[in-house]
Amino acid sequence: MNILVLGRHGQLGQSLEDILPKTYPNSIFWDRQSLDLQQFDDIEHQLTAQRPDVIVNATAYTAVDQAESNKKLAFAVNQHAVGRVADYCAKNDVPLLHVSTDYVFDGLGQQPYVETDEPNPSGIYGASKLAGERAIADSGCWYVILRTAWVFSEYGQNFLKTMLRLGSERDSLAIVSDQVGCPTYAGDLAFALLTILKSIENGTCSWGLYHYAGDSAVSWYEFASAIFAQAKDAGLGVPEHVTAIATEEYPTPAPRPAWSVLDSSLFTSAFGQAASDWQRGIKTCLRALNHPSQ
Ligand SMILES: NC(=O)c1ccc[n+]([C@@H]2O[C@H](COP(=O)([O-])OP(=O)(O)OC[C@H]3O[C@@H](n4cnc5c(N)ncnc54)[C@H](OP(=O)(O)O)[C@@H]3O)[C@@H](O)[C@H]2O)c1
Repeated sequence: MNILVLGRHGQLGQSLEDILPKTYPNSIFWDRQSLDLQQFDDIEHQLTAQRPDVIVNATAYTAVDQAESNKKLAFAVNQHAVGRVADYCAKNDVPLLHVSTDYVFDGLGQQPYVETDEPNPSGIYGASKLAGERAIADSGCWYVILRTAWVFSEYGQNFLKTMLRLGSERDSLAIVSDQVGCPTYAGDLAFALLTILKSIENGTCSWGLYHYAGDSAVSWYEFASAIFAQAKDAGLGVPEHVTAIATEEYPTPAPRPAWSVLDSSLFTSAFGQAASDWQRGIKTCLRALNHPSQ
């Protein structure tokens, strides 16, 4: 199967490049130079020239706070470009695997969100990602959309890497404790996409929308504490004091959902893969960051 991955240099794109070629040696990874999704008119032309069997879209405009003042760009990448890719897929019978976000919900829930819960994004990023989901569904292509949350990895910029950097620089840190979510290791998310690709190959894919995130819910404060506990065991510098603070003590341009807990059980029953074991993900990241060549 010829798989085309868009978003080569993102967290998920790099995690996919670590594993996909072992099963699918013909996988191709495109970065922004290969296809800039803001150039809408290039999309169909480039995809037609490549003729992939399946497309995995690991791209997104992910700057949650900047999206508030950059609405046009957020919607260009997360809705309009996604719609163009989906239209190509519908026209050419090419399955599309796509990734979306917990930010499609307003975070006012009290139970883990399931796929049938009504989205109601409170910021531009979430609204643009929801519009992208709808563009895919409206295109009529074969698709699987995975909504995920709190993605971290050894690659790019993410909460784990920020904590490790700040932890080595400062004696004390204050971390928000009234936002709760499910941290997701990008390596597990990449593996979930590989599982879907295998099901497409053997003709058993259960198409549709799924949640795929961490296997338990924690606050940012608890997530940071778990990172520091493992970092300390690994001999890394950690802050002496980590304090829990409220969201209003750490204001951001985009509102953050207080409750970002995704229920991954539908995905597990459809594809047989458990939710992301994020504690193990922390361990894998620390090992990769300490020994980059392994
Ligand atoms: N990170 C999270 O916490 C989180 C949470 C929930 C859902 N998600 C979703 O998970 C998916 C993967 O996220 P991630 O963390 O891997 O994102 P990321 O690290 O920010 O990577 C995003 C990728 O999109 C590419 N991109 C952005 N604009 C582009 C354009 N105009 N043309 C071509 N490529 C473009 C970037 O290219 P450059 O490298 O050239 O910039 C980068 O490779 C996304 O759909 C995201 O919405 C992420």
